[in-house]
Amino acid sequence: MTNRLTIPRPDDWHVHLRDGAVMAGVLAHTARQFARAIVMPNLSPPISTVAAAEAYRARIVAAVPPGAEFTPLMVCYLTDGIDPDELQRGKEAGVFTAAKLYPAHATTGSAHGVTDVRNIYPALERMQAVGLPLLVHGEVTDPAVDIFDREAVFIDRVMIDLIKDFPALKVVFEHITTAEAADFVLAAGANVAATITPQHLQINRNAMFDGGIRPHAYCLPVAKREAHRLRLRAVATSGGAKFFLGTDSAPHAVSAKEAACGCAGLFNAPFALETYLEVFDEEGALDRFEAFASRNGPAFYGLPVNTELVTLERAQTAVPHVIDANGTLIVPYRAGEVLGWRLSA
Ligand code: NCD
Ligand code: ZN
Repeated sequence: MTNRLTIPRPDDWHVHLRDGAVMAGVLAHTARQFARAIVMPNLSPPISTVAAAEAYRARIVAAVPPGAEFTPLMVCYLTDGIDPDELQRGKEAGVFTAAKLYPAHATTGSAHGVTDVRNIYPALERMQAVGLPLLVHGEVTDPAVDIFDREAVFIDRVMIDLIKDFPALKVVFEHITTAEAADFVLAAGANVAATITPQHLQINRNAMFDGGIRPHAYCLPVAKREAHRLRLRAVATSGGAKFFLGTDSAPHAVSAKEAACGCAGLFNAPFALETYLEVFDEEGALDRFEAFASRNGPAFYGLPVNTELVTLERAQTAVPHVIDANGTLIVPYRAGEVLGWRLSA
């Protein structure tokens, strides 16, 4: 039995770090686990200019705990009126690593998102030309479409045309939750990849209704049926280059989650690697964790693999019931449970 795994330090290809005091609190957890992270731009107001991204990056860098090494990779939030020149400037200045498509009102912080993907075709044209990847929150917002079907319908209504119209654009289908999305990505070219969260590998939609309503199991896209979870586990642990780690860690204060209208998002950053590794262990795929966590993401983005190594060992790790993120109390994913792996200090 393998009890220790040493791999190049992984990166998180999808994280919400927020801003201000809470950012410093949650950043410490991400910086303990990861060397780099793709930082989501859904602040209020969103990060839609080079100047805003540079300023946000500087705030993050200033909040990295002493002794930690962490590089935030910034993302431009696409709006209907986004200027293609701004995207190109941000890419050439080394500020934008990617740009994010949030369909308007699909999720937290998406009010300024895109109302029709055709509105950003000039931006996508430019991104394709300059090699700036597109990150997609793949859910339709049509109220007539069942919330559990919104990802699959998005493939039919948006994704199929999008990859046909921009055949050389790098596209990451973010936090996929369905077998349809996994199969869509597999069938597409090497320019199309996906991130997968720990929770979508571990919980199905029953988790939201387990003996009562469970706000801490609610994120977007929502967890789906068991068959989807199993398909995601198969592709994540396959070692295939198209799937890589992206936690979608999305911290919200306890009070914002445990409410009549609780926010979507799970805070999984503190024990992300330990959690993912449980899945690979259960699937008999420990030898493929390095591809998913450390190699596939950099390869897709054209970045070097981190040279520093980290070691994970089989050991009991207790997840606290609540974490104080610099003054904001947040319930972490798997709160109160014991995980089977530990990231060595
Ligand atoms: C994210 C958030 O809170 O910012 N929430 C979530 O459930 N994942 C937004 C998002 O990525 O959809
Ligand atoms: Zn997200």
